[in-house]
Amino acid sequence: MDGMRVKSCLSLAALAQGREITTIEGLAQGEELHPLQAAFIERDAFQCGYCTPGQIMSGVACISEGHAGSPQEIREWMSGNLCRCGAYDHIVAAIQDAASASGSVRGG
Ligand code: FES
Repeated sequence: MDGMRVKSCLSLAALAQGREITTIEGLAQGEELHPLQAAFIERDAFQCGYCTPGQIMSGVACISEGHAGSPQEIREWMSGNLCRCGAYDHIVAAIQDAASASGSVRGG
């Protein structure tokens, strides 16, 4: 919402009025997937897919906020996004790939 990640399940709809909202459906550019969407496919970063929209939206923010410098940092900044299937290793790998491709990986 307005460029910040929010937990949609905990956000009142009335608070979204007049705000710019981006959802998973708005990430791709036409037929071209967002780099993190493509990395999720490449890395098999989902099983049932239930958590995937939230994981990707949070992962995009994690990268843009500069919190994708290491697997440990990614895990820390993605810690609110739960995956019942336990695809965490693949999710972290996909975020690392997309962060590297975007050049937003910091040292360490
Ligand atoms: S892929 Fe099933 S909950 Fe994450």
